[in-house]
Amino acid sequence: MIRIGFYGSLEDIPGWQASLAGRLAAFEIVELMSDQGAACDVALVWAPPANAFTRCPNLRGIIMQGQGVDHMMRDGTVPRDIPLVRLVDPDMANALSHWAILNALDFWRDGALYRDQQARRVWQHLPQRAATGAKVGILGIGAIGSVIARRFAALGFEVRGYARTEREIDGVTCFAGPGQLAAFAKGLDIVVSVLPLTPDTTGLMNADFFANLADGAFIINGGRGPQVNDTDLLAALESGKLGGAALDVFTVEPLPQDHAFWIHPKVRVWPHVAAQTNATSAADQVAAAITAMMDGAEPANRVDWSRGY
Ligand code: GLV
Repeated sequence: MIRIGFYGSLEDIPGWQASLAGRLAAFEIVELMSDQGAACDVALVWAPPANAFTRCPNLRGIIMQGQGVDHMMRDGTVPRDIPLVRLVDPDMANALSHWAILNALDFWRDGALYRDQQARRVWQHLPQRAATGAKVGILGIGAIGSVIARRFAALGFEVRGYARTEREIDGVTCFAGPGQLAAFAKGLDIVVSVLPLTPDTTGLMNADFFANLADGAFIINGGRGPQVNDTDLLAALESGKLGGAALDVFTVEPLPQDHAFWIHPKVRVWPHVAAQTNATSAADQVAAAITAMMDGAEPANRVDWSRGY
């Protein structure tokens, strides 16, 4: 019997139970923080508390219910000698690309202005931006970002991608490393971030970065909040350098009630919902990771602690 210690939204447990049944032999899902949980073989978690795993002497590996592992990196009590695996789920790549395209097109086609006109019963044509040739830059062109980049290219946008290391994607001009960040940013109309949070990506979208973009550019952050310097973003919105921002992630979540983003007319606040975990589409890889951990084999998508994701 494989014992899976679960931490996250407890109402998700029946979904995981159903999706893992048939993919694993005998298993049970128990709450990680319970006494039974302390005897778990593997853990399936999102944002567990510090010291959650120091109580688990049998633990062979940890599987995340999402992609980002920045909170695990910050927790000095997470064991580093057993595998930590993150989800790389095509359904989440789909969801994140839909969310990015939704916000980009709404901005590019002046959705907010037309909704405002409708509310006032105003029938007025606004100048339309060019349908082709607008420049979109994707920060982070790994498993998710490469899907997003290809889809923006298919919509007729000119697409650039930025990653830590060199990449090649058909129809996308790729830039690698901090030395090429300014060239990547030069003249972009829309920026989409799906970067992981690491020391290199913290504060990456700051005043210097914004200065390189086209005037009136739009920022879409589906990566992590601290990648944006909030003060610089608000100043760039105020000066008109930026035309708007759609944000799904924030330095502090939930976004504090008194934060300026809530009521800023050019900011769209999403409560970290761009890509929610889908227990059905993720089941195969979670079951494969558990099987590998139980067999002492190397699971796929193991987090590299030195790289930070
Ligand atoms: C969500 O933000 C995730 O990292 O999966």
